[in-house]
Amino acid sequence: MRAPGVRVRQSDGEATRRNLADRRMLRTDLGILREDGYLVLPVVNAGEPSRLPGELVERDFPIVKRQITSDYRDLLDWPPDAKALLPRSFDVVGDIVLIRLPEELEKRKHEIGEALLSFVPSARVVGQDRGVHGTERLRSIERLAGSGAWRTRHRENGIEFEVDVERAYFSPRLAREHERVASEVKSGEEVYDLCCGVGPFALTIARSGRATRITAVDANPSAIELLRATQRRYSYGSRIEPVLAPLESFLPLAAAVDRVVLNLPHEGIKYLPSVARTVAPRGSLHYYEITPREEFDRRAESIMRSLGEEDWSVVDRHVVHPYSPTADLVAFVFARSRS
Ligand SMILES: C[S@@+](CC[C@H](N)C(=O)[O-])C[C@H]1O[C@@H](n2cnc3c(N)ncnc32)[C@H](O)[C@@H]1O
Repeated sequence: MRAPGVRVRQSDGEATRRNLADRRMLRTDLGILREDGYLVLPVVNAGEPSRLPGELVERDFPIVKRQITSDYRDLLDWPPDAKALLPRSFDVVGDIVLIRLPEELEKRKHEIGEALLSFVPSARVVGQDRGVHGTERLRSIERLAGSGAWRTRHRENGIEFEVDVERAYFSPRLAREHERVASEVKSGEEVYDLCCGVGPFALTIARSGRATRITAVDANPSAIELLRATQRRYSYGSRIEPVLAPLESFLPLAAAVDRVVLNLPHEGIKYLPSVARTVAPRGSLHYYEITPREEFDRRAESIMRSLGEEDWSVVDRHVVHPYSPTADLVAFVFARSRS
């Protein structure tokens, strides 16, 4: 197919491919041409020739036939025993793909990265997710394929969030929960989003338009900076007040509000007595915890003891998503009585 292309020395090919891909100019439906020590990379829209990383030319490019498959593992021509180790699932955050791999696949991780890069249509870069750590729940990521930064925009519930998967916590697996909490907010409510990260609860609640004010608190400066960047792009963002502070200094001075969200699944329990005091009479508390599956039925009652039992009742408990073979991330919703 006839199309514009950028001609560069073969030695500059990979740098040019990355440059064009980062600028979203590279066409992936057409193949790259080789010409005597030069490469010609097909581009979407040549734009201003002086800003191109090579000479602008026009060529007949071959059309790339994509393998149609619903499973990235089909793209890897591996022996069955190695294939059996490949995880079925992965996360997509904007144009970033994150996957967790077992140690046995260490030597083949870059092949897996390349397979995911060609499998996920929106993918720009693929990283190995080496888990979250520390109080800020920061993710360690190793690049497996593709290029560019770990910052992206992720679309969820009609909002494009500013996300940096390395500098502030974000999980695409919580989208339904963000929406569920927002749908429960009643007209005129004041809300605290404690441990807000980049603000998915706060922004989804703000977008639904019923809360008058949402205070979003986190101790990670990058999380608050990303929240502010998203907030600025939406008029409803003005209902959110981002607060950069640890709960330890925010909670003692906080007035009571109608609804409080606390999403700090590994450590939240230690803050519950002081969080409970920030929930107004007839208010609600959404509390998240990693709960062993065998404890699901009785856990809500023992959490209530941390809240001050006589004042509270359990309104709901549900699994948000599986966390490990034996535990889930569970949402507990408590209501405070009138007194
Ligand atoms: C699991 S993330 C939750 C993020 C967000 N609520 C969401 O749904 O994506 C926990 C967040 O709590 C913050 N955090 C941890 N300890 C904190 C503390 N003592 N005070 C304030 N924020 C804290 C971390 O920086 C992190 O952003």
